Amino acid sequence: MTHSGMQLGGMVETFDTVVVGSGIGGLCTALRLAEHMKVAIITKRELMESNTRYAQGGMAAVLSENDDFELHIEDTLQAGAGLCHPDVVNMVVKGGPEAISELLQYGVPFDRDGSDLSLANEGAHSRRRVARVKDQTGLAIQRALTERVKDHPRIHVFERHMAVDLITRSRTYSVTENDGTIETDSVLGTYVLDLNNHQVRVFSASATILATGGAGKVYLYTSNPDIASGDGIAMAYRAGARIANMEFVQFHPTCLFHPQAKSFLISEATRGEGAYLLNARGERFMMNVHPLAELAPRDIVARAIDHELKTTGDDCVFLDLSHRDPEFIEDRFPFILKRCLEFGYDLRKEPIPVVPAAHYCCGGVLVDQNGQTTLPSLWALGETTCSGLHGANRLASNSLLECAVYAKTVAADILERYQSGQLPAPAPDLPIWSPGFARPLREGVIISESWDEIRRILTNYVGIVRSNKRLDRARRRIEFIRAEVHDDYWDTVLNGDLVELRNLVTVAHLIVECALARRESRGLHFNVDYPNRDDGTWLRDTVIWRGGGGQVLQSLGSL
Ligand code: SIN
Repeated sequence: MTHSGMQLGGMVETFDTVVVGSGIGGLCTALRLAEHMKVAIITKRELMESNTRYAQGGMAAVLSENDDFELHIEDTLQAGAGLCHPDVVNMVVKGGPEAISELLQYGVPFDRDGSDLSLANEGAHSRRRVARVKDQTGLAIQRALTERVKDHPRIHVFERHMAVDLITRSRTYSVTENDGTIETDSVLGTYVLDLNNHQVRVFSASATILATGGAGKVYLYTSNPDIASGDGIAMAYRAGARIANMEFVQFHPTCLFHPQAKSFLISEATRGEGAYLLNARGERFMMNVHPLAELAPRDIVARAIDHELKTTGDDCVFLDLSHRDPEFIEDRFPFILKRCLEFGYDLRKEPIPVVPAAHYCCGGVLVDQNGQTTLPSLWALGETTCSGLHGANRLASNSLLECAVYAKTVAADILERYQSGQLPAPAPDLPIWSPGFARPLREGVIISESWDEIRRILTNYVGIVRSNKRLDRARRRIEFIRAEVHDDYWDTVLNGDLVELRNLVTVAHLIVECALARRESRGLHFNVDYPNRDDGTWLRDTVIWRGGGGQVLQSLGSL
């Protein structure tokens, strides 16, 4: 193993907190912390690029007189199919109004009806409660936060930098504690690949925060941007943190079906404004599936579309909003309308072809209500985590909300520890990265082929509908690729694609293992060999971590 030839000393850059990721979770937390401490933000592309940027629908919160916290809590619990943690749901839902006011203060121009916010409807919400900026809410949030962060005197932004691995105490100082398991390990900082010059930098920090978003790229068809390779989840797992509920991958029911559209998202808000789902014969098939028809929870709509496609052999179903006034569509969905027109479809006049695509990872790094992971000095928030908010299926537009609320609790927890002297000072003597005998990559095809293989395996064997046979196959194939990637990783001078591939195969492994562990069907996990929900045995989370020797350990129990 060549990269393991790391040496103590050398150039170590120190910060009070290092935030990995630049979406709403990372930026809101950084802004809060930077009032008191020196913060670094590491982001793979530009500060503006994140999963947040592509969120169309908006942020759910109780904001109108005809709504109340109990209704939002109940909708979230219903969607989560028994696995939400009620205390977390309560905390997040009640934090909603304050989170929205904070974003307004940061300059997010939420749409208004007179002096009130204009609220959208989405699937499985019993009230209109989604604050939005037309159909590009995430972009508006990302812009406002980026403006605040970019010239902040205490925030150091590292664009085109990619976190490679967490630096842990045991890896650095060869310590063993208690029974020698890695779980008591603490995080001292991060190795960071500078994508401008391919050097690996060493960032030492009192606190490290993972806010890297989700892992949609593990599937062939995803609404997520290319950066969504599950980096934070994979790094935390390698460092020994507990990871939970990775089997619950949410497929968004309606992404544009077009070879060049890269699964462009058609917001659920279109159905909130009355869009119908039609099969190729022009029939509204959701009417027979669920009393809420097109506005049923997402897992149900995506599965119904999958069933329709599998039984008819069609390539897509259709979303029809053409019965609404064209001027309303132009005003409410300008971005979606424009993008569809670029592909030759006019939302004002005709049904547009849609298919489900991987959209949101409900599992992730296990955290408590302060975003503290199971490793000391490591926090995480947002789609990178499993907080207990989403359970087995996330309610639409609860994800931006989760990020904004956890930004507050994570920052408060870190600041309290910092100010009371409980956080260790950044270690000055972390090992520098040594490439050892690693060789430059000569055969890029090895990386691109493995990427494609992983994505095909997950799409075909670990998609909306699963079976034991498909999951077993997926396990064998993913383990084979994992071993190959492991060898390539240690023998090759690092580049961004290789680091992402290593993360992607790790996330694929976690999804497959969690899906195999859960022997029932619930929420987003549907296995034809166990088609029923089994509350007697499975009203539990799936928790997975690496043991001291690197072996996979699992528990099924309360987080
Ligand atoms: C959408 O606009 O449909 C996406 C909203 C979400 O995933 O929460």
